[in-house]
Amino acid sequence: MNTRTITCIEDLRARARRKVPRAFFDYAEAGSYSQQTLRANRADLERIALRQRVLVDVSQRDLTTTIIGEKVSLPLALAPIGLCGMQHGDGEILACRAAQAAGIPFTLSTMSICSIEDVAKAVEKPFWFQLYVMRDRGFIRALIERADAAKCSALVLTVDLQVLGQRHCDIRNGMTVPPEIRLANLIDIATKPAWALSILKGKRKTFGNLAGHVRGMENVTSLAQWTASQFDPALSWKDVEWIRSLWPGKLILKGILDVDDAKTAAKTGAAALIVSNHAGSSMARRRRSRLCRKSPTRWAAKSR
Ligand SMILES: Cc1cc2nc3c(=O)[nH]c(=O)nc-3n(C[C@H](O)[C@H](O)[C@H](O)COP(=O)(O)O)c2cc1C
Repeated sequence: MNTRTITCIEDLRARARRKVPRAFFDYAEAGSYSQQTLRANRADLERIALRQRVLVDVSQRDLTTTIIGEKVSLPLALAPIGLCGMQHGDGEILACRAAQAAGIPFTLSTMSICSIEDVAKAVEKPFWFQLYVMRDRGFIRALIERADAAKCSALVLTVDLQVLGQRHCDIRNGMTVPPEIRLANLIDIATKPAWALSILKGKRKTFGNLAGHVRGMENVTSLAQWTASQFDPALSWKDVEWIRSLWPGKLILKGILDVDDAKTAAKTGAAALIVSNHAGSSMARRRRSRLCRKSPTRWAAKSR
C-alpha cells in the first residue's frame, strides 16, 4: 500500500505536516501556555469508553439525528477554525462543501479567510456563522446583518475569548501581531509549492470578513493589529441579550464550562450550548469534565 494513502485523521495530520508551512501547521496543532489543557482534553476524550453489548441485530445502524432542529447524518459539526483558508487556499469553502456532503453543519469563523459571502456563494445549503464580539459594536451589528443576509442557519456566539492566551509556538514562528516575516518562514514556504499555489489561487489572502469592512484596514498586519485590540474584556450577559435582539435565527453559545453559566445561558433563549474550552488553544488550565459528565453528549441542547 502507498504509505501516503489516507486512511484516518492521523494520516491527514501527517500529510498536513508535510504540506503546510510550519507556522500555520503549528497554529492549528498547538495549545496555549504549557499546553496543559490540550493534554488534559486528549486524556479526557481517550478515557471515554462505550458500553459494549453483543448479539443484537445491528444490520440497520443509523446515526442520523437533529441538532437545533436541523437533520444531520451524525451528531457532529465542524467547529469554527480561524485562518482555515491559510491551511489551504479557499479552505473554508472546501471544508463547508465537505461538511455538507457528509450531512453535518459547518461553522464559519469570524476570523476566516473566505468571507461569509464567499462561502454562501460557493455552497448549496446554509451554514452556521461564529461571532467574536469586538469592541466596535457597529462592526458586530453589520456582521450579524451580513450573516442573516447570507442565510446562515445559526449564529454561534463564542463567549470564552475576551482575553487572548499566550501561544508559545506562534511567538516562535512569528505568528504575532504584527506578523513577522522571517527568512526561515520564507525558506519553509519555498519547500511547500503546492500550498503556495493553492493560496495564490485562493480568493483571499487576508481576513475576509474584516477586509473592506473596517476603515483603513486592508492588509494582514493592520487587520491583525485591529483585531488584537478589539477583543472585549467587558463582554457580559447584557451583550448576549443585545445580540439575541439583533439575530432573528437560532443562537448557540460556545465556550460554556460551568453548570451555573449553563443555567444562565439556558435563560437567554439560546437554542444550544457548546461545552468547550477552545481546545486549550486560548487560555490555560480550563477543564470541562464536570459539565460533560452531566450531559450525555457535549451538545447540551434545549428546545426553544
Ligand atoms: C487552530 C484553531 C483555530 C480556532 N479558531 C476558532 C475561532 O475562530 N472561533 C472559535 O470560536 N473557536 C476557534 N477554535 C476553537 C474550536 O472551534 C473548537 O472549540 C476546538 O477545536 C475544540 O473543540 P471543542 O469545542 O469541540 O472542544 C479554534 C481552534 C483551533 C485549534
